[in-house]
Amino acid sequence: MDRELQDKIAIITGGGHGIGRATVDCFLREGARVAVVDWSAGKDIDQMPDGVLYCRTDISKVAECENAVREIVKQFGGVDILVNNAGVQTYGDAITTDEGTWDFNMNVNLRGQWLMARASIPEMLKRGGGAIVNISSVQGLASQRNVLAYSTSKHAMIGLTRTMAVDFAGRGIRVNCVCPGTVDTPMVRATIAQDRNPERLRKALNNMHPLGRIAQPREIGEVIAFLASNRASFMTGSIVVVDGGLITPIAGSPE
Ligand SMILES: NC(=O)c1ccc[n+]([C@@H]2O[C@H](COP(=O)([O-])OP(=O)(O)OC[C@H]3O[C@@H](n4cnc5c(N)ncnc54)[C@H](O)[C@@H]3O)[C@@H](O)[C@H]2O)c1
Repeated sequence: MDRELQDKIAIITGGGHGIGRATVDCFLREGARVAVVDWSAGKDIDQMPDGVLYCRTDISKVAECENAVREIVKQFGGVDILVNNAGVQTYGDAITTDEGTWDFNMNVNLRGQWLMARASIPEMLKRGGGAIVNISSVQGLASQRNVLAYSTSKHAMIGLTRTMAVDFAGRGIRVNCVCPGTVDTPMVRATIAQDRNPERLRKALNNMHPLGRIAQPREIGEVIAFLASNRASFMTGSIVVVDGGLITPIAGSPE
């Protein structure tokens, strides 16, 4: 029997680390041909499985996105799936966030998702359709203190998802969004390491989630693979929360 993504050509942005890297493994297992679009060239990049096409790209740059998609089409013959996963996180509130920090978050997280979609959608249309999965965050649905630019960009991705879903539903492209809770990735490990009391923060992050722990990257990758596959054929414009129950409880409710 065919695997769920057999011979599908998939672009995974930010596939060099964390959630993106785990998603690469899920997609390969399901038979996809995978291209990773990532600006870093760290050790995970060197450990890419055989057959993965790596395009060193800054997704906030128009020409780099277009070149990457052109190269992927040249090497693989088209594009069926785009996983818009690459992202950055910074801290600051409305006073302490400077323009550079604001632009950095918006340019990578939001503009980058749009630019990669803009470059990929025409290729999907040539093949009769496709699937896009945007990775937002629980911080796209709610907020916490001191994450103005990040949380704002993540909220906007939900708008980006819905508007692209509406625009392209009639042309065979499904667009969905995943909102993870906290995931054990380099992004989160860096935040923990910078804390005055890393062990206390690690425990607090685990306890914040009703399931009692943060996620492993593969647990997000599996949901992304499902949304990209035909098993999710009637899903578009959906915002799928994968958060171990994080945003479910009524705040302050007694035990
Ligand atoms: N880790 C979490 O707890 C968590 C929670 C919710 C949402 N998310 C979101 O999931 C996505 C992946 O997060 P992660 O934790 O795996 O992050 P990560 O930092 O571990 O990995 C992100 C990857 O994106 C790449 N990247 C960053 N900026 C880029 C750019 N301009 N161009 C190309 N590649 C770029 C990095 O090189 C890296 O490989 C992000 O969008 C993040 O906001 C993460």
